[in-house]
Amino acid sequence: MQIIDGKAIAAEIKKEIAAEVNEIIAKGGKRPHLAAILVGHDGGSETYVAHKVRACEECGFTSTLIRYEDDITEETLLAKVEELNNDPDVDGFIVQLPLPKHFNEQKVIEAIDYRKDVDGFHPINAGRLTIGLPCYLSATPNGILELLRRYNIDTKGKKCVVLGRSNIVGKPVANLMLQKGTPGDATVTICHSRTANIEEECRQADIIIAALGQPHFVKENMVKEGAVIIDVGTTRVPSTETKSGFRLMGDVDFPNVSPKCSYITPVPGGVGPMTIVSLMQNTLLAAKKEIYK
Ligand code: GUN
Repeated sequence: MQIIDGKAIAAEIKKEIAAEVNEIIAKGGKRPHLAAILVGHDGGSETYVAHKVRACEECGFTSTLIRYEDDITEETLLAKVEELNNDPDVDGFIVQLPLPKHFNEQKVIEAIDYRKDVDGFHPINAGRLTIGLPCYLSATPNGILELLRRYNIDTKGKKCVVLGRSNIVGKPVANLMLQKGTPGDATVTICHSRTANIEEECRQADIIIAALGQPHFVKENMVKEGAVIIDVGTTRVPSTETKSGFRLMGDVDFPNVSPKCSYITPVPGGVGPMTIVSLMQNTLLAAKKEIYK
């Protein structure tokens, strides 16, 4: 059994990005610039955005954090999105989700210029991903593929079960696993809350990608010997053992499942650090205008 060290791979990729930024600057180019909009004070969002800002520093990017209280109007937010769309110094930007309830998230996502949508949430990027065209890949699916790639995990002809059908993880990662190439070429099943006999589906799987947000959903009796397990779960549960007062729980019962696996990602330190790196990779692509001119 090998534990997939997402933290180490993420550090490696950030170094590669920083080296490339140094080259760009040495040649007289512009420093990549990522902006992030954070509305309100959701604990998880605060943490994620702080990590994104720190990752920008590690990669040599400029970052701008725009903060609003949670009572701002949708018009104010949309006006800022428009301003960033038109700001030639900003290569890419994100609006941290979830937004407070009075916002129409889909409307905000669609207001972002798809050429600056480094989250890959705009329907143009999501659609292009689905049909295999160059686009900004959303962070978690891309992070998962990068782990499979860097660990040389064989996916061709393998049976891959994706647990969860969200637009930001389940659907796009299933699509990427299905596409021609490496990683890819898998036979993919997407399971969800209405799937009949989910346990049996899991037992058939060579690769399980668990993204349902249900702590320790995947149990030992659902995993075949030698399976590859990718755990996307990050449910925050109260804890007396950490400074922050909470800890992250994955969707997989790691202590009991891991002995049966060939590879498994831990929580934390598996997929999590890779998602932020994917955002950095997209920002670099945006700065280089590699996907869209
Ligand atoms: N909330 C949870 N994950 C993400 C993400 O990848 N991007 C944004 N903008 N918000 C999120």
